[in-house]
Amino acid sequence: MDVLTAKVLEALRRESAYVSGQRISQALGVSRMAISKHIRKLRDLGYEIESVPNRGHRLLKVPDVPLMEEIAPHLRTRAIGRPCRFLPACDSTNVRLAELAAAGAVEGTVVVADRQSGGRGRMGRDWFSPPGGNLYFSVLLRPAVAPGIVPRLALVAGLSIVEALNAGVAGLGAALKWPNDVLVADRKLAGVLCEMEAEADLVHHVIVGVGLNVNLPADHLPAELRDVATSLLIETGEAHARAPMLASLLNRLEHNYRDWLDNGLDALLPRMRDVSMLTGRHVSVALRGEPMAGVVEGLDADGCLLIRDTDGTVRHIPSGEVHVERHD
Ligand code: BTN
Repeated sequence: MDVLTAKVLEALRRESAYVSGQRISQALGVSRMAISKHIRKLRDLGYEIESVPNRGHRLLKVPDVPLMEEIAPHLRTRAIGRPCRFLPACDSTNVRLAELAAAGAVEGTVVVADRQSGGRGRMGRDWFSPPGGNLYFSVLLRPAVAPGIVPRLALVAGLSIVEALNAGVAGLGAALKWPNDVLVADRKLAGVLCEMEAEADLVHHVIVGVGLNVNLPADHLPAELRDVATSLLIETGEAHARAPMLASLLNRLEHNYRDWLDNGLDALLPRMRDVSMLTGRHVSVALRGEPMAGVVEGLDADGCLLIRDTDGTVRHIPSGEVHVERHD
């Protein structure tokens, strides 16, 4: 949103009654015609504004769109989400943000889209990204750490989503499926795709991409996702406003990211263990390309998954995709 449109919005927001075009134009030092143009721009973004001759304009309804103007009142961060760019549509927010990163965007820059035509998931999969109700966003981080420990950031991101959701949505019971899937009752609610640009010993940037199913009705899920995915709407039976939700996710991510930069995983690991849904479960996973199966014992100090295999040996799994054996 351009500066003047945002100022017109601010003027409308300050009043619950009608505010005349003349008053806004005097306050902002622009013509009444310009004010009408910005009112039209706001309507195009989804703001419902009533205009009555001789009385003026009145803001009736704010759209459920994660625009910076709607996020800002809820944002408690120093860097993350400053700035936050909203795109009605794009191929992938990770791709858009990578371009901004290459052009020198500051740490904390966020790109959020209403829909993605090429949403990307982990392991080369697609991420289902229909318009109108979900959150698809990417956060640019420039941590001064060795590239080898960046995968731990994916854990930090997953934990942050679980914590923000459980704090904000009563009774949700979201859990973390190592390394960074967010599940409710074994169905996937959110996923994280971290992509790094680095040299052998220098991280240029990390893009943390998050997809969260917010207001997706069950019958909008494609058949192949129906048994494995969920949304906040499906779990709670009510719609959730996306802008304050995005702000709460960014707030928690910044808090945990700073903690990780200062103290490593020390303070975060016990909280990851508390919300992990894998502990005690029979799983299979590929370790250096070889399949292995066993029971999850927890996480080690580096965030690796601990699995006791059938010989009783405890293996440390640094990364990979875990399959829960459904029969336990
Ligand atoms: C997963 O497979 O679990 C990770 C899914 C990550 C999807 C998000 S949506 C926003 C960002 N842009 C993308 O293209 N992917 C991530």
